[in-house]
Amino acid sequence: MVKVKTKLVSWDEIVSWSYGLALKIKESGYKPDIVIAVARGGYVPARLICDFLGVENLVSIQSQHWTEAAKKAERAIIKFQYRIDLSGMKALLVDDIVDTGESLMLARDFILREWKPKELRIAALQWISPVAKFKPDYYYMEVKEWTWFQYPWTRLEDTIQFMRRMLLEEGKTKKEWSYKDITGKFMEWYGIDVGELYFKSALEYLVKEGLLRKVCEDKYVLAK
Ligand code: ADE
Repeated sequence: MVKVKTKLVSWDEIVSWSYGLALKIKESGYKPDIVIAVARGGYVPARLICDFLGVENLVSIQSQHWTEAAKKAERAIIKFQYRIDLSGMKALLVDDIVDTGESLMLARDFILREWKPKELRIAALQWISPVAKFKPDYYYMEVKEWTWFQYPWTRLEDTIQFMRRMLLEEGKTKKEWSYKDITGKFMEWYGIDVGELYFKSALEYLVKEGLLRKVCEDKYVLAK
């Protein structure tokens, strides 16, 4: 039984989903003069949409969740609040996914207030309709059951976090692990195989971090 509903997304899927999204934008008749990528998740889809729609102008905005010190509550902030003039331009704001939608809403409000485009529409590859606070103007896929999409551009950071979470829990009863034990349990928890490059890099990271100790070629011991 998987513990976190996860879907591994391939580069080929990203190209095909971005193409599908671009097609919807084209069919609607909207011709953006500029694309705005939400950093960091919107970078790849935004660049592909520029390619598929023939848009030359691409800028970005970093809207990010952060945890306030000593508080559980998370809120989104705009980092690097530079100003540009988009008056007279039709803009398209692009992100990978609308989950709660908070960071995207914050980016939208900032752009409308500070960059003042003539028009701003929002596009995302995926829209998690039951949890999202708004519906993007364009989306390629409606997701009806919350899922973690393991996109190719966060593969290492996700693998590190997933592996850490799994080891901290399973490590309560099992201290010694082989590579096969770790990757096998990972696949049991998350139902995905990220491949050797990512498994090995994540393991190296967790050894450096001190969560794991490598005692011989194929033996890892939980440090605590
Ligand atoms: N970023 C925010 N929500 C996400 C999700 N459900 N999957 C992948 N990346 C996300």
